[in-house]
Amino acid sequence: MKDLRANRWGYDFKENPAPPPTLRQTQRALSQEGKSVLALAPGDPPAAGYPPPQWLMDAVNQAMKDGRHGYRDTRTAELPIGIAKFEKEFSGVHYDPGDIFPVPSSTSAMVLCYLALLDEGDEIISPEPIYQQYSFFANYYKTKMVKTNSFEDDRWQPDLDAIRKAVTDKTKFIIINNPNNPSGAVYDDKTLKGLIDIAGENEIMIFSDEIYTFLTFDIPQATSVAKLAKDVPVMLSNGMSKLFNITGWGLGYLAYHDPEDKMPELRSAIRMLRGYCGRVASPVAVAAAYGYQNWKRAMEEVQPEVEDIRRRRDWVVKRIAEIDGINLTTPEGSMFGLPDCVPAHGDVWKDDVDFLVQLMKEELIGFVPGSNYYSLGHFRVGFLSSDENLRIGFDKLEKFMKRHT
Ligand SMILES: Cc1ncc(COP(=O)(O)O)c(C=O)c1O
Repeated sequence: MKDLRANRWGYDFKENPAPPPTLRQTQRALSQEGKSVLALAPGDPPAAGYPPPQWLMDAVNQAMKDGRHGYRDTRTAELPIGIAKFEKEFSGVHYDPGDIFPVPSSTSAMVLCYLALLDEGDEIISPEPIYQQYSFFANYYKTKMVKTNSFEDDRWQPDLDAIRKAVTDKTKFIIINNPNNPSGAVYDDKTLKGLIDIAGENEIMIFSDEIYTFLTFDIPQATSVAKLAKDVPVMLSNGMSKLFNITGWGLGYLAYHDPEDKMPELRSAIRMLRGYCGRVASPVAVAAAYGYQNWKRAMEEVQPEVEDIRRRRDWVVKRIAEIDGINLTTPEGSMFGLPDCVPAHGDVWKDDVDFLVQLMKEELIGFVPGSNYYSLGHFRVGFLSSDENLRIGFDKLEKFMKRHT
């Protein structure tokens, strides 16, 4: 069979970080033996027992009863108005509803941004660790993802000098995820201003994924980079998946912040291309408009979950401090942390995958490898895991480390 793949498949597609086959194969082999693996890095709130607000489910039912099934309903003008209200009241950023583009997920918002901005050979810069999807699509578009260091010992803040040096005349934007999956970093205002300065000096944009913006542990919320960017265009992605606990419904948006109207043509490109990123189910679109109008109610109702996550973060930080060979920079937001397993830097294990495969085989527990996010020798832990699962999992991890190091 001849190779029918689109030319767009990028040059280093094979090197994309993805769940490594060795881990998947190990899990499959164990399950064939009737053994199940305890997953300790989940990121799906409804699957972890956190349901959507009842009033939002009622709103979907009501939309169906009201016959909101048409093209017009999926594009309801109420939705960008509701999202603009949320962005104004929560993040303190004014968006014209015409600059808000609802799409089926915040991942599609990123695809929309890539579609509108990237050509083969372009470059984008992202501080590590990097959420997998950013590089997956960069490779697909034959765009070079330039990865820069972050300072693990300084709350995983990005190395701004490295970012400044990485800019070339091919760079289109800097992509950040704040709060960060998987490191739990929350970028402070100094960092955000530094990023804005670099973008401004070089006339490039910032793409900011703010899906975890409400999930911070030590401060009330993360600052949106758009709030500080007065003359630098920002593309922001967010969605309902985490705040409203509806990861399976599909509702995200791209918000375009360009206060000085530097790139008006981009707005029309996004408007046109949005149609190719899929359609939001009309009852979900109608209910989402209601959801964002009532975002404060959703925020109140999600607080017990945020409290659970914060409490487990505290517990994991303490527990890891008791285990030799593993260090964790205290996560400040999102639902994750990224411990460094020192012996998995080639000392005892070849790398983080090697370490996790052996851990899975011997103790039947599973974490996500840091190399999925270009953070070698690390692994992702998720605070949506129940208290009981974390207790069992970390006891097993401690036993394992004592046995091998
Ligand atoms: C950093 C980050 N961005 C985006 C998403 C996906 O959001 P959505 O469900 O809106 O596609 C996730 C989901 O886990 C995520 O961790």
